[in-house]
Amino acid sequence: MCGIVGYSGPKEPLPILIAGLSRLEYRGYDSAGIAVSDGSEITIEKKEGKLDVLKEHLADRKINGNVGIGHTRWATHGVPNDVNAHPHSDNSQDFAIIHNGIIENYAEMKESLLSENYSFKSDTDTEVVAVELSKQWNGNLLETVINVAKDLEGTYALVVTTTKQENTIVAGRMMSPLVLGVGEGEVFLASDSAAILEHTNKMIFLENGDFVEIHDGSYRLFDTELKEVEREIQIIDWEVSEAEKSGHEHFMYKEILEQAEVIERTINGRLEEDSVEIPISKEQAQKYDKIWIVACGTAYHAGLFGKDLFEKVLGVPVSVELASEFRYREPIVGKNDLGIVISQSGETMDTIAATELLKENGSHVLALVNVVGSSLARMADSVFYLHVGPEIGVASTKAYLGMLVGQLLLAKHWDSKKKLDVSFEDIKGLPVLIEETLKCEQEINEIAESIYKQNDVYFIGRGLDYALAAEGALKLKEISYLHAEALAAGELKHGTLALIEEGTPIIVTASQYHLLDKTTSNVQEVKARGADVIAIGNSSSEKLENISDRYVTLPDSNEILSTIISIIPLQFIAYHVANKRGESIDQPRNLAKSVTVE
Ligand code: M6R
Repeated sequence: MCGIVGYSGPKEPLPILIAGLSRLEYRGYDSAGIAVSDGSEITIEKKEGKLDVLKEHLADRKINGNVGIGHTRWATHGVPNDVNAHPHSDNSQDFAIIHNGIIENYAEMKESLLSENYSFKSDTDTEVVAVELSKQWNGNLLETVINVAKDLEGTYALVVTTTKQENTIVAGRMMSPLVLGVGEGEVFLASDSAAILEHTNKMIFLENGDFVEIHDGSYRLFDTELKEVEREIQIIDWEVSEAEKSGHEHFMYKEILEQAEVIERTINGRLEEDSVEIPISKEQAQKYDKIWIVACGTAYHAGLFGKDLFEKVLGVPVSVELASEFRYREPIVGKNDLGIVISQSGETMDTIAATELLKENGSHVLALVNVVGSSLARMADSVFYLHVGPEIGVASTKAYLGMLVGQLLLAKHWDSKKKLDVSFEDIKGLPVLIEETLKCEQEINEIAESIYKQNDVYFIGRGLDYALAAEGALKLKEISYLHAEALAAGELKHGTLALIEEGTPIIVTASQYHLLDKTTSNVQEVKARGADVIAIGNSSSEKLENISDRYVTLPDSNEILSTIISIIPLQFIAYHVANKRGESIDQPRNLAKSVTVE
C-alpha cells in the first residue's frame, strides 16, 4: 500500500526520491517523507497530505547527501499526520527507516522498550523497529537489521540507513514487494518497478527473507543467515511513457483510452492453436476435477466472467472465490484441482495467502497477473501475463479488460469440443472493436450529467452481463463515492425492487442475445416503478431500446466480445460522474492501488 523508494550513487538523492515518490503516489497518499544522509547526519522531512505538500515544503531546500530513502504512506497504525509519516527514527536520530506492511507484534515490543526507558513520538509500528535497531546495534547495519527482523512478526519491506555506517542502505522483505533497480554505478530501491523505470530497466525482485546491503552504488544480497545469495536480473520492457499521463488529466482516463492498443499486446502471439504463450495445454486442462478462481475486487469480478467460459469448455465445476474469505475457511481443494488466481499487481496480500492455501492442498496454480516478477507470478506454477502495461489509476480499467480477454484466450485454447461461439479471427478483431466502442464517450458524458447528483445507482444484468454490472458498480462507487449496487436482474423482485422509485437510475447491461427477453422483462418491472433506465446493448435489441430512457448501442459483434466491450461505457460512466463531482479520480479517498495488507 505504501510506496518506497531509495537511492545510492553519485547523484544527489533528493530529486530522484521525489520523482520516484511521484510515480508511487497511487500506492498511498495520506503523507510522505524523505531521509537523506551525508554520512554524518540524516535529514528527515515529512508531511501529512499528498506529495505536493512535501514538495512545497522542500521547494527551496538544498539537502545534499550520498544516500536517500523516501516513502508515501497509506495509514494502518496511527492517523495520517506529520509525526506518523515515514521515515521514522530512533531516540538518538542515528537511524532512519521506512516500511511497508504491518508488524503484528509491535505492541509487545513497544511495551518492552518503554520499560527500558526508550521513548516514542508516533503511534506507528515502524518506529518500534527504528528504536529496536538502535538497541540491538552491533556495529554492522546488515547484521543488525537481520537480527531485528528475526524478532518481527507480520509483513514488511524495510529500508534503513544510518549515520553509524557511512553511505549504506540495508533493505529486506517479507511478503511486501521490494524491487532493486540496477544502474551503472548506482542502485535504486522501490516498491514498484514503475517508480524507477526512468533510471534503469534492470530489476531484481527480492524474495521473502532476502536482504540487500547497498554501498556507494553497488549491492550484495543475503539471506537471513547472512549467506550471500544470487538473484536473476530481469529486464522490464515497459516504456517510461506508459507510466505517465501523456497530457491527459487523469491516469484512469488515459488507461481507458489506451485499451485497444494494450489488448493488442494481450492477444499478441496467443491466437495460434498450440501457442507456447498459453501456459496450460488443452490436454492438461481437461484433466482437472474442479477450478477455483480466487481474486479480490475488480479481479474477482473478472473471475465471475471466466467461470461461465471455463465451465462451458471444460465441463467441470468452477468456483469463484473472494480471496479474503477463501483463506479463512476450509475449502475442499483437491490435488487434482486447478487454481486460477487473478491480480493486476500480483502483490495483493489476500490473494497471495489464498494461493498458498491452494498450493498446500496440492492444486496446480495458474496466475493471471500484470506485473512481471510480482510475488504471485513467482509463487504460481504457471503464469499468464496480461501485458497491459503499468496501471497507475487506483480504479482498475485496462487490467480488468486484460483479465477478461486473458480468460477468453485460455478458454478458447482449452475448448476441444468447440463449445465457444467465438473464433480466433473474431478475437483478433477485438482491438478495432474496442476502438469503435470508445466513440461512445460523448454520449456517456451526457448520461453522466443526469446521474452525478443522484445518491444511489443500480446496475443490473444477467449471466455474463451481471459480472460486468458488478464491475460497473464498483467503478462508480470507488471514484465518485455514490452508492452503487449491482444485481442479477432476476433478483430485483426478491427485495431490492422496494428501493426503486421515480427517477432512480438503473444501468442495464444487456449484451447477451439469449438472455435479452428475460432482461427486458426485468427492465419493464423497474420502468413500472418510475426508474430512469440507461441500457447498454446491441443494435438488434429494439424492444429494450424502446422501453429504455437512454440506449447506448454497442458496435455489432460476436456475443462474448459484445459483453467484453460493454465495460467501456461503464468505465466512462464512472469517470465522467466522478469528474463532474470534482472527485480525486486517480487517488480516491481511503483506497490504494496495491493492497499488501489484510
Ligand atoms: O492488484 P489486484 O488486481 O490483486 O487488486 C485487487 C483489488 O484490490 C483491485 O482490483 C481493486 O478492487 C481496484 N481498486 C478496483 O478498481
